[in-house]
Amino acid sequence: METILAKNAGFCFGVQRAVDIAYKQAGNRKVYTFGPIIHNEEVVKDLEQKGVFVLHSLEEAKTMEPGVAIIRSHGTSKANIDALKDMGYEIVDTTCPFVKKIHSIANQESKKGHEIIIIGNEHHAEVDGIIGWCENTPTVIDSVEKAMNYQADPEKEIVIISQTTFNLKKFQELVDILTKKYYNIRVCNTICNATEVRQTEARSIAQEADAMIVIGGKSSSNTQKLYDICSEECEHTYYIQTLQDLDLSKLDSARSVGITAGASTPNTIIQEVFNNVRVR
Ligand code: F3S
Repeated sequence: METILAKNAGFCFGVQRAVDIAYKQAGNRKVYTFGPIIHNEEVVKDLEQKGVFVLHSLEEAKTMEPGVAIIRSHGTSKANIDALKDMGYEIVDTTCPFVKKIHSIANQESKKGHEIIIIGNEHHAEVDGIIGWCENTPTVIDSVEKAMNYQADPEKEIVIISQTTFNLKKFQELVDILTKKYYNIRVCNTICNATEVRQTEARSIAQEADAMIVIGGKSSSNTQKLYDICSEECEHTYYIQTLQDLDLSKLDSARSVGITAGASTPNTIIQEVFNNVRVR
């Protein structure tokens, strides 16, 4: 029996960096993360035990004794950072460099008076953060309908940027609609390929494997997507949060088992599953 562990399972570079920094900050000072560092309860609880607490809002931040405030990998608005500083918090910014690049484009291009279009999901924390770096009001587009209905001053230059985790195919489809309507458009494809690489690898492992295990939180949309992709290729695909959810007897007839995991699944959980599947 062969067990194939995806090389791109679990944290991407930006999330790993943010989590590492949060652990390094844990110590004798007051330390907070501005929002949960990742959508994984075990990691958040573990950090809490080490003295790193979650600030859920600026209102909550006002009621706490100021200390270090860690900004998450998907960033936040300049206004939030300034407000935390004004309250006396010391900022440790773990915004992923790929997201920082988008903030910088949004800020510089809006300062020049250009219209900014963000291709992304409205109300997603990363998109909220990007909006907060624009000097004017950007437009967020996530559907064909919104792209069709978009209106702009034809005299103005339009700059298109994207949420890092947006679907590339959909991004191209929306950009096509917009570029047919306006000439003066500059497209900056700021999609991060970490998600795509993970999905491509998961599909290819699932094509070969007799059974496939996808590890990740129940509410993690990128894990759900991985599960959907693997299910298309492999009939015996199992979605688990931790080893406890896995019925190992279901793998008895499999000659090869593939394992992948969503972006907020800690390596300890992945390794635990891998070690148990391998020796079964
Ligand atoms: Fe991760 Fe940074 Fe890409 S947080 S998904 S490496 S933009």
